[in-house]
Amino acid sequence: MPHMPHNDTTEAAAPAEANAAQAEAWNGDAGQHWVQYRDRREAQLSRFSPHLFAAAQIAADAQVLDVGCGCGGTTLQAARQAANGQALGVDLSAPMLAEARRRALAEEVANVAFQQADAQVHPFAPDSFDVMLSRFGVMFFADPQAAFSNLERAVRSGGSLHFLCWQSAEVNDFFTVPLRAISAHLDVPQRDTPGEPGPFSLADPDDVRGLLTAAGFDSVEINAVDERMWIGADLEDAVAYQMTTPSNQAALAEAGPEARGRVMDALREALSPYATAEGMKLEAHAWLVTARKR
Ligand SMILES: C[S@@+](CC[C@H](N)C(=O)[O-])C[C@H]1O[C@@H](n2cnc3c(N)ncnc32)[C@H](O)[C@@H]1O
Repeated sequence: MPHMPHNDTTEAAAPAEANAAQAEAWNGDAGQHWVQYRDRREAQLSRFSPHLFAAAQIAADAQVLDVGCGCGGTTLQAARQAANGQALGVDLSAPMLAEARRRALAEEVANVAFQQADAQVHPFAPDSFDVMLSRFGVMFFADPQAAFSNLERAVRSGGSLHFLCWQSAEVNDFFTVPLRAISAHLDVPQRDTPGEPGPFSLADPDDVRGLLTAAGFDSVEINAVDERMWIGADLEDAVAYQMTTPSNQAALAEAGPEARGRVMDALREALSPYATAEGMKLEAHAWLVTARKR
């Protein structure tokens, strides 16, 4: 793989100014929380990954780039499929990359590397990847047009891009149901402001098609992926987890100790209809986006 970086673990600071606020968050509380709850996040997203990998059709000799790879679950899966090739995971977050490297060592996956980089501006070697993929890692760019243009340059002619991003917040009960319950008692960020980087920034398929086409991709296909997301083993587990997220923790600290009980009761009431024999499950709707470089 061109410019395969060493798996050095010296990085720690935010790598770029283009996405400084995101870099700060993912190197801070948000990143630490993902590392702490990495198995839970994998369980939450487990029903989405098969859609991504079925679309990506990674060949045994493929060079793969995983954008916003986080703790590396999808990068390791890509590396296993590209048994005679390699997978590179890039991410802003030093703590999440450290966890990804730990997993690669523990699982003895050798054809994988991780690099701290801002995918929007990182000077990837041109025309070097056969497959670029991302599981919910491409919605946080301050300048999505610049980012997808930068990524397009790194894909070889005939190569492909595949990513999952969320449909709108309104259709994603896993997000809105707990948020509505919490927002009735706490001042928490809503994270779905149109035009702002965040989980729902690529919710409009027309926008996504426009961005990718302007970046130079063609054969853009956008298909709905409709699943039910596991959010906890049972009601108490789901409620307890909601109380751990950095934004909820910060709002709770502001509101004072007596708010805690009210918030937990509101969450219990809101989430109780979603109990199933396999745990708590709420509707989740993503887009699976595929494009090619001519
Ligand atoms: C929702 S998490 C998904 C992580 C991982 N793909 C997964 O499925 O577990 C989003 C990830 O995108 C990363 N990210 C956000 N903006 C980025 C950027 N400009 N360049 C590289 N990574 C970025 C974050 O650090 C975070 O790890």
